[in-house]
This record gives sequence, structure tokens and C-alpha cells, in this order.
Amino acid sequence: MSSETETESLPCVKAAKRSGEEILQRLKERKLLRRYAKITSDDKFIYLPLVRVLTAAELAEIGDIELLTRKIVLLKPRKSVKEILGFKPSYSYEIIGDIAVLTGADREAEAAAVTERSEESELAAMAQAIMDCHKNIKVVTRQTSPVKGEFRRRTMAVIAGTERTETLHTENRCRYKLDLEKVYFNPRLAGERNRVALQVTRSRVDEEIIDMFAGVGSFAIQVAKRNPQSHVTAIEINPDAIRYLKENMKLNGLRNIAVVEGDVRRVYTRFIGTADRLIMNLPKSAYLFMREALSMLNPEGGIVHFYDIESSYSDTGADVGAGADMPQQPPREDEDRKKKSPERAVRLAKEKLIARMQELSEEYSFHSIEILDARKVIAYAPYTYIIGIDAVISP
Ligand SMILES: C[S@@+](CC[C@H](N)C(=O)[O-])C[C@H]1O[C@@H](n2cnc3c(N)ncnc32)[C@H](O)[C@@H]1O
Repeated sequence: MSSETETESLPCVKAAKRSGEEILQRLKERKLLRRYAKITSDDKFIYLPLVRVLTAAELAEIGDIELLTRKIVLLKPRKSVKEILGFKPSYSYEIIGDIAVLTGADREAEAAAVTERSEESELAAMAQAIMDCHKNIKVVTRQTSPVKGEFRRRTMAVIAGTERTETLHTENRCRYKLDLEKVYFNPRLAGERNRVALQVTRSRVDEEIIDMFAGVGSFAIQVAKRNPQSHVTAIEINPDAIRYLKENMKLNGLRNIAVVEGDVRRVYTRFIGTADRLIMNLPKSAYLFMREALSMLNPEGGIVHFYDIESSYSDTGADVGAGADMPQQPPREDEDRKKKSPERAVRLAKEKLIARMQELSEEYSFHSIEILDARKVIAYAPYTYIIGIDAVISP
């Protein structure tokens, strides 16, 4: 836990409380929010400490804010897991609710570590270090399989703490109950979910949104909660995810989501021509569902948030998106440094979406696709990325 130490006069942003969350995310995305400095608020405003004074362009971009200098309480940086351990751990970890999940071992660190420590003792030491570092963690578990199968699930082995994989996770003020072994959930997509929810807010119309692969409602809940004027249809094939989705609606006090259990390839017929916006977060194979997507889209057109997995080092990056569950081996370091760049993966994803649209344009009355934005969302494996594309599709 961080503890308060001293104060310092720092540049900070003053924003109305109701837009505080949005402004906070924008500062975080631009790496402008200062770490280890206390965020404070009064009745109407929130004060967000900055790493530096903003430029005029940044001020305009970030929104309705005032720039000022304010005495800010500095927080003591807490020791990292690496500092507690005294060596670079072979595993990385992510936190979901009160569970820490150890994921893929870091190759270089692992190679160096193997000679000195047995894997078991390193796992135990890391679990203890995580619990010392994050006092709210009650379970440390290790991912023992890749995310796989139609339900996109993974297996876990609990290393320390209570023997359970169910937890309650909070993200952007939304609460999600989920079981890490029974359903898909990726906390690294928090920024992406925030981005999509914000786009709905900015569109300022009552939208009908269809989340085609809803899981426990990661996108659906966030979009519906932050946009009570909109209505979300959340389709999902995994019965466990459906159970959590319904519970999460209650946890978040939501009534503007219709939950639909089933294979989108079958249930889409109930929603022909209804959607103003589609969320297609099944990066492994979303492009195979474009027929259903176009069928559900409003005849006047709409926005599609399309996700894809592509590699930056192979012309056949589609292999990863099309079915491989295990990441491909990266090239040797001297092979081609340029291949590390995600731009190639972004290009491949755009080409895939456009080609699929062209294939289907005869069948459906949508002939135009305008890519609003295409970007790397997160790294998926070495040299391989989840790419997000926002596109307007119209007749
Ligand atoms: C990558 S996960 C994304 C879940 C959620 N959108 C999120 O961001 O956490 C994809 C989800 O799609 C579901 N799914 C896979 N194939 C489906 C299909 N044909 N119809 C409906 N849901 C499907 C899986 O069970 C899984 O929960």
C-alpha cells in the first residue's frame, strides 16, 4: 500500500466530477497522469495531478478542463514484485478482482533463472511477493493452458491463498463477477472497453447496440451503464458466461440489456436490420461472422467495432487469427527488426475486413466501408497483436 509522505505544488487538471472518469482515462491514455500523487475532489470538482503542464492542443483535446497548480500529497511508491523478490521473475501477472494470475514465463528471464531456482520455489516466492505487494490479493493462480475452444477459456492451478477461481472485478466503475476457468475475461482490455463506451456517449443518440460475443458482459455492461439512453443486446454461447452476465446486470443495476443465450449463427435471425452498432470481440474469428453482422445491421448502416489477431512478422499472420491457439514462434532477433512493428498487423486486419466486406457486398446492400480508426489494442503473443478497427458501414 502507498502511504502519504509530503506535498508538492504540481500542475493539475480541474474537471467537473461528472466527467472525471472520462478525463482521467484520457490523461492515462496519453501518459499524462502523475503516479504516486493523490487525486482529490470537493463537492463539484476532481483534481488530477499531471506529469507536466499541458500544451494548448492537449488542453483542447482532453475536453472541458481547467489547468492549475495545486498542492498535491505525494504518495510513497510501493516496492514492485521484482524488488521484493530481488530478481526478475520468469512469469508476468495480471490482477482480476482479488486473484493474481501468473501468465506465460518470460523466456530470457526463465532461461537465466532455471539454473538457480526450481520452478516450484520460484512460483511460491512470486505468490508471496504478489501478496505482500497487493494487500487485496487473496488467491494466486497460474494459467496452465492457452485461451482455447469456442468458449475461449483457460485452465488454472491455484498456487497460494484460497482454493477458488471466482472473483469480483471492478473496472471503470462497473462490477463483474466471473470464474476465471469458466469464462473469458481480459483485464487488459479495460482501455478498449472505455473507448467504445465513450464513443456511444459521444454519439448522443439512443442506439441499439448488439454485442455479438458478450462473455460476462465486459463490453455490454460498460456501454449500457454509461449510456442509459441506449439498449444493448448481448449474445453469448457459453451458459456459464450467460449466468454471470445476468448476475452482473443485477450487480450494476441495469435493465437496458437483453441477454440472448445461443450461437450467434442461429440467433441472429431475431435481430435482422436492428443494430446501429455492433461489437465483435472474438478476435480469433470475428471475420467469419461478417454475414451475421451485416444481416443485423440497420439498413441505413452503422458502426462496427471489429477485432482481429494479426502478426507483424508473417504474411500469413491470418494463421494466428484463423485458428492457432498457441502463439507462433517469433523470428530470431537478427532476422528482421522491422517485423516487430505492429503497423503490418494493423494493415493485415484492415485488408481482411475490407476483403470480407467486398465478398459480401453483392449479397447485402452495404457497399461502403469507411475505416474510422485501426490500431493495436494489446499484444497477444510475441510479434502478434489484437487489432481493433472502428468502421462505418453504409449502403
Ligand atoms: C474473446 S471472448 C470476449 C468476451 C467479451 N466480449 C469480453 O470482452 O470479455 C468471446 C466470447 O464469444 C463467445 N462465443 C464464441 N463463439 C460464439 C458464437 N458462435 N456465438 C455466440 N457467442 C460466441 C465465447 O463463449 C466468448 O465468451
